[in-house]
Amino acid sequence: MVLLWVISALSLQVAVSFGHPLPAGCSSRTEPDPSFAVDVKLAGKTYVNKGLVAFGLIPSNFTESTGDTLGGIGSAIALKRGSFSQNSNGSFDGTFITQPDRGFNVDGTIDWQGRQHQIDFVLTPYYDADNLDFDDALGTLKLTYRNTLLYTERNAQKTTGLDALAVRPAEASNNNVTIPDPALPIAETNEHMSLDAEGLVLNADGTFWTSDEYGPYIYLFSSEGDLIETLQPPEAILPFIDGKLNFTSDTDPDTGRAGNQGFEGLTVDSTGTTLYALLQSATIQDGGSDKSTSRYTRLVAFDISQPLVSRPPVVGEWVVPLPQNKKGNTLAASEVHFVSDNVFLVLSRDGDGHGGDDNNSAYKQADLLDISSATDIHGSKFDDPSNPIAKKGKLDKSITPGTYESFVSFIDDTQLARFGLHNGKPADQTLIDAKWESLALAPCFDPDFPDDFFLFTVADNDFISTQGISLGQPFDAGLDVDNQFMVFRVTLPGASATGVSTESTH
Ligand SMILES: *[C@@H]1O[C@H](CO)[C@@H](O)[C@H](O)[C@H]1NC(C)=O
Ligand SMILES: *[C@@H]1O[C@H](CO)[C@@H](O)[C@H](O)[C@H]1NC(C)=O
Ligand SMILES: *[C@@H]1O[C@H](CO)[C@@H](O)[C@H](O)[C@H]1NC(C)=O
Ligand SMILES: *[C@@H]1O[C@H](CO)[C@@H](O)[C@H](O)[C@H]1NC(C)=O
Ligand SMILES: *[C@@H]1O[C@H](CO)[C@@H](O)[C@H](O)[C@H]1NC(C)=O
Repeated sequence: MVLLWVISALSLQVAVSFGHPLPAGCSSRTEPDPSFAVDVKLAGKTYVNKGLVAFGLIPSNFTESTGDTLGGIGSAIALKRGSFSQNSNGSFDGTFITQPDRGFNVDGTIDWQGRQHQIDFVLTPYYDADNLDFDDALGTLKLTYRNTLLYTERNAQKTTGLDALAVRPAEASNNNVTIPDPALPIAETNEHMSLDAEGLVLNADGTFWTSDEYGPYIYLFSSEGDLIETLQPPEAILPFIDGKLNFTSDTDPDTGRAGNQGFEGLTVDSTGTTLYALLQSATIQDGGSDKSTSRYTRLVAFDISQPLVSRPPVVGEWVVPLPQNKKGNTLAASEVHFVSDNVFLVLSRDGDGHGGDDNNSAYKQADLLDISSATDIHGSKFDDPSNPIAKKGKLDKSITPGTYESFVSFIDDTQLARFGLHNGKPADQTLIDAKWESLALAPCFDPDFPDDFFLFTVADNDFISTQGISLGQPFDAGLDVDNQFMVFRVTLPGASATGVSTESTH
């Protein structure tokens, strides 16, 4: 076994870790308790949820290297390439790259630069049925913040979180860029590119793709965080007001993505050549102006095999039927993750839990999506916003949507209790966070279960802290919502987690 420790050259900051090793004698099982297994069949394959195996947190008042409060990190996570490996004592080491959205914006959007953080972890899966104390549970996923990378756009300008009230015309930017930019969302005040980052895909060459809510666009950044190029979705998804592109998140457009319902999900296939972006809920023309009609959203595929030769083209588009709550309101999608050809995990949820509208959450799940029999609407009349796929939320009869199956619930009371957590009141530190928005996979290296993976998810705490710092200024959001992390163990037949691990025992 070769263990390769990848240590960032930038790890100069004094590392602070959260969580301590599980006390001896706490854990007896080396495999999940079989009584927890829940099977789901999809397209002839059996997927298994084997339960929650680890939990960790970074406190809501933790300060990152720029001096700002670390928050919002669950908007997107990815495992740093080559970082995941198994230790001789059975634990696993790895590094998350986490990407927050647009800073503390409870009182309005702010001039906050886009960024990503490296966070190391030691995962010691807990498989027993007995309930751990909350403090002991934190030992199952020990977290160490390492460093932060800031994002810049054209002319080395900082990206901003400010609402995109203005538009920078297409190709008016630096002509020396390889691929000219389309019209870009910019702030009215400083004219910097507005970014509300939501999805993250790391490429083998160190560059990375970030999806956002304003465009909704997908940006390619260099390993130093500099903008390289911009992908635009089909016209049906672009926000138009009075016939003009208008990227504001404050109001809904006439057609295109609804305000704050952009590309929440971003993932890549196992060959690293097809990028998939998932819109959070339906476009306005497809019923997106109301939660009771917004379930038919779109998954768009781009061919990214030659990103610098020409702008990656759209190569496919499918309709995803999102789940609905008891009142018939859409449970919008916060993330998508590639599993195998035509199969994805989709994270759909309500906004309840710690920091949310209500303490009691009714739905937070990583579900399965199969698009193998779904209609590819790319290149059809539905690219034009005047042809809705689902007028007032009724799906056009010519379209077969993807198949959506319920899979891993994040709010199962038995599983939460094993880690000292709960759903519903009281609203304390052990209440599960409201906004889980990210998914990542890593292999379990278990020769008996070669299709078993760890499924990581991290919450977006919206920077809610009573001791916060934003742009150098202290703030008190009236509540402390920690950055929570969970790890499930799942069987995903035929899945791969390309590039994340340094070694494989099978
Ligand atoms: C965060 O809050 C805890 C509990 O109040 C306190 O002990 C700790 O010093 C605080 N950390 C920072 C960085 O403010
Ligand atoms: C297992 O080994 C890793 C790497 O050496 C270490 O970080 C972790 O604390 C160890 N776990 C226990 C329970 O001792
Ligand atoms: C976009 O719409 C908002 C709200 O209606 C408006 O204030 C803003 O000026 C518009 N921006 C452009 C570029 O038209
Ligand atoms: C393009 O590159 C040339 C040569 O490197 C430089 O002189 C010029 O200022 C650049 N143009 C812009 C618009 O940045
Ligand atoms: C959540 O629970 C707390 C008690 O811990 C209560 O004070 C609060 O009102 C509850 N919130 C809602 C929205 O019901």
